[in-house]
Amino acid sequence: MADIELDAGVDPAFREDVLAGLAMRPRAIPARWFYDLRGSELFEQITDLPEYYPTRLERSILEANGGAIGEVIGSGHAVVEFGSGSSAKTPLLLDAIAPAAYVPIDISGEFLRESARALSADFPDLPVHPVEADFTHPVPLPGSIADMPKLGFFPGSTIGNFIPPSAVDFLRAMKETLGTGAMLLIGMDRVKGEDVLVPAYDDAAGVTAAFNLNLLERINRELAGDIPVDAFRHRAIWNDMLARIEMHIEAVRAVRFSVAGQSFEMAEGDTIHTENSHKYGERDARILLRAGGWTVVREWTDEADQFALILAEAQPEKSAP
Ligand code: AVJ
Repeated sequence: MADIELDAGVDPAFREDVLAGLAMRPRAIPARWFYDLRGSELFEQITDLPEYYPTRLERSILEANGGAIGEVIGSGHAVVEFGSGSSAKTPLLLDAIAPAAYVPIDISGEFLRESARALSADFPDLPVHPVEADFTHPVPLPGSIADMPKLGFFPGSTIGNFIPPSAVDFLRAMKETLGTGAMLLIGMDRVKGEDVLVPAYDDAAGVTAAFNLNLLERINRELAGDIPVDAFRHRAIWNDMLARIEMHIEAVRAVRFSVAGQSFEMAEGDTIHTENSHKYGERDARILLRAGGWTVVREWTDEADQFALILAEAQPEKSAP
């Protein structure tokens, strides 16, 4: 029927999240929907912006501490990367630790297989087993790595996209996926001044604005929307009480539009909340990890302590009182 034709290739969960998110107050759509092809391209551009420090700092931390990271972790691990995307930082880790296998997990199957192929070309002797799955839930790992020690890898400070209770659920899911005795190398962005944080999410060239507003274009493209994108602007604000950058899409005038046959109205100044990026101080990070079942064993940071690469181990389920 017509409906089926219209929806071909569109993730039904996208439609549900958008329709529910526009009906909700405050309006909110989960950040995971940024990453269509165009959104992924724009995110790659963000990582090259002068104002966007996290990617650069995390790379430099990996580069500067490869030796120490290799010593603490040791060799022979199966590296399991959560939301591997383009696996851009993976070679730096693989070079440091001499792993026995690499298991990239990503929800986007095509992107995943492509990145796995590219990585295999650079590491011809390393067995690579891509797994297409939603990494926020426990994922069964390939049998071939069952006997290897596991190292989870979750770079980029993507953990910051989750509100703390969801971050804890997710850390527990990673622990279940990896099993007892596993280690986890995770990137977390530190709390820092608004003068640095806000420009990182509202850059002079307008790339982050385009990334945020692309969500409206995606809705128009995939969900038969007629949203007038020029009636909206990008906002990035630092919420100090919740220690997070929030991205919103704000209506600059009153608008009416429809999405998938449903009508919506927004007044001037109304917003759609599209992303949280939580920042964690040293102690905050340790507590979050402990709540999720992980104990910190080492931390590496840049000179100015702006970004942290944290190594944790799965803590035994029942520890003292
Ligand atoms: C990919 C989630 C780590 O929160 O910094 C960058 C996404 N959003 N600029 C982040 C993002 C706007 C990014 N993460």
